[in-house]
Formats: sequence, C-alpha cells, structure tokens
Amino acid sequence: MHDKVQHTARKTAFLISLDPSAGLVNGRRVLIGKKTLPDCGGPLSVPAIDPQVGNSILSAVLAHLSDLHLPFEIAPSPRELAGKRLLSLLSWRLRRSKVHLWSSLEAVMADIRAAQPDLLAISGDLTNLGLPEELENARKWLAGTGFAQTVIPGNHDAMVPMPWSHGPGSWGHHGGMVAPEQPLLRFAGEREDVAIIGLNSAIPTPPFFASGRVGPTQLDTLEGLLQRLGAQNICRVIMIHHPPHPNLVVRRKALEDWHRFSAVVASTGAELILHGHSHRGTITELPGTDIPLIGVTSASHKPDHPEKAAGWNRITISRQETDWSISITRRRLGIDGHMASLPPVQFRRQLSSSDSQTA
Ligand SMILES: [Fe+2]
Repeated sequence: MHDKVQHTARKTAFLISLDPSAGLVNGRRVLIGKKTLPDCGGPLSVPAIDPQVGNSILSAVLAHLSDLHLPFEIAPSPRELAGKRLLSLLSWRLRRSKVHLWSSLEAVMADIRAAQPDLLAISGDLTNLGLPEELENARKWLAGTGFAQTVIPGNHDAMVPMPWSHGPGSWGHHGGMVAPEQPLLRFAGEREDVAIIGLNSAIPTPPFFASGRVGPTQLDTLEGLLQRLGAQNICRVIMIHHPPHPNLVVRRKALEDWHRFSAVVASTGAELILHGHSHRGTITELPGTDIPLIGVTSASHKPDHPEKAAGWNRITISRQETDWSISITRRRLGIDGHMASLPPVQFRRQLSSSDSQTA
C-alpha cells in the first residue's frame, strides 16, 4: 500500500491554462468547483492537430459529451408512472423539456462530426424518465452517431428498478456496458494506448434524490484494471456519471461511495477522470490527488446560460517520452447558434511504469 501511494505521488501533474485570467494555485493554474471560464469568443473552427510534434506522438482524440436528455416526445402509461416517474414527468413537462433542445444537441453533434474524434465518451443520462421507450430511442440514437463510442448510464437511465437487459444493457452493441457491475473497457487510437474505463454509478433512488453508487464489486475490478493498464503504460481515462467529489453537486445528488472510489484511484493512479451529472463544465482534481477531474455541460442544454450552455470537450492525448500530454478544448454553444472554444487547458501526466524512461 505504501509503495502504491509513493507510486501515485510520483505521478505529478501539470495543469497549464492558456487563459491568463485563470486562477493560479500553488504555482499551477487551476479551476476549482463550479467556476467556469468565460467564453473567449474564439474561432469556431477546431484547430488541426499535428500528429507528431517533436517527441510527442498523438495517441487519440476523444469527444466527451454527457447528459443528452434526448428530448423525445413521450407518452408513458399510468403503470409506467408509478413512484418516482410521476414527479419526474411533471419536472420534464414544466421545466426540463424547455431546457433540453434538439437544436442544441444537433449543433454539438455537427461540431463533433467536424472534429472527427476517434471515440465518443458519453457519460450518461441519455433519457429523462428511464422509460423503456426512451431507452430504445437512446439505443437508436447511439446506433446512428457514426462513431466508435463508449457509453455509461446516468441516474435518469436507471430511475426505477428494471432488468438490466431492458435498461442500459440494451446499449451493449453500441458501446454500452454489458453488465451493471462490470466496468467497461475500451481502447482508443491507432496504437490503442488509451483506455476508457466506464463505471456504472446509476442506481434507483427515492423521489427528490439522484445519488449514485459504484459499489465494491466494480471498485475491486477497477483496482485490478488500473494496476494492469498502468503497468503497461496505457493512458487510463475513467468515466463515471456522478462526480467523485463532495462539492460539485448537492448531497442528495452525490456519489455515495466517492471516498472509496478516491482511495482506490489514489492508490492505483489514473491519468484523467471524466464525469457528467452536474451539467457544468468544471475542471478540478480528484480529492487527495492531482488527477484531473473534468465535467462537461449537458449536450442538449439551451445556450442562454453561460455556465450550462450545451457543449462537449475535445480531449487530445499525446504520448511524450516520459509523459502523457492531455489537451482539453471546451466547445460551447453560443446564443448566436455557433459553437466556440473556451481557452484550452493542458495537463501533463507522468507515464506510470518505472521502465517508461526507456520505452
Ligand atoms: Fe443529467
């Protein structure tokens, strides 16, 4: 255990924001909590990437999007509205259906298509009430993206208990998880040296709660996966719907076992953690570690809210001699209907294995 902690401490991260307005903490520029940067009003086009600059070799480009809340028309039966769904339907009809728009999602997807990422990383909440009809609509949507992808469920996708195969398990052929307690593992890039590890934190909860839990079974598997992939110098990107952080969502929406998740990941190491659920584009760190923890806004939110406007994150991962270089370009929808970039953020994460110096 002691060795593991030392090993993790050795993996120093450098977070360099190219935006001079970003805060400077301990000599590093960081964005903490819910603070987001203002739109820089930059060019709409996504900059081209040189696949090899100096000793840097491009490994993969990921598109992280989340909380699509696909705004299909739904007509649930009285039986389907038992329990929590009735309240959720009211919330959808009165408020959320006016916030999550096809036009926003289409702008995001058009922007992603222009960027041509290697993989879509979709961190849950594709539905609103988790109805069978919605889950099937989400399956069809996933089938039509035209990209390799990996997708995990959110709390809305598991609103009430249901057989896994009728729920998010039906997305298995389109990048989804095959079992609720079996972390998803997908490699990206030509050299397949980037691994996306998807976790299921979606659990049915009482009305007015939207908390999550990973559970000991997934955490055990996660620990082994992270150790094995780290020893192979694979870039480990964890994706989870609920943020493993105490301050990014209110308590009734929090990840119940975030302490245990943090302990596992702190001991094994990881290069990056992606999450959804908060509907905010935040950049912070897993508590107690220097592992970047990145949230993204809902991919379908209307653009009139500066902190919530629809967006996605373009994540470029390059391998250098002793580091991973991780660059994040945050694309957001403006009220003019165009996508624009927030100032890019870059991290350096030291390669895991001690023999990396000669790799
Ligand atoms: Fe959501």
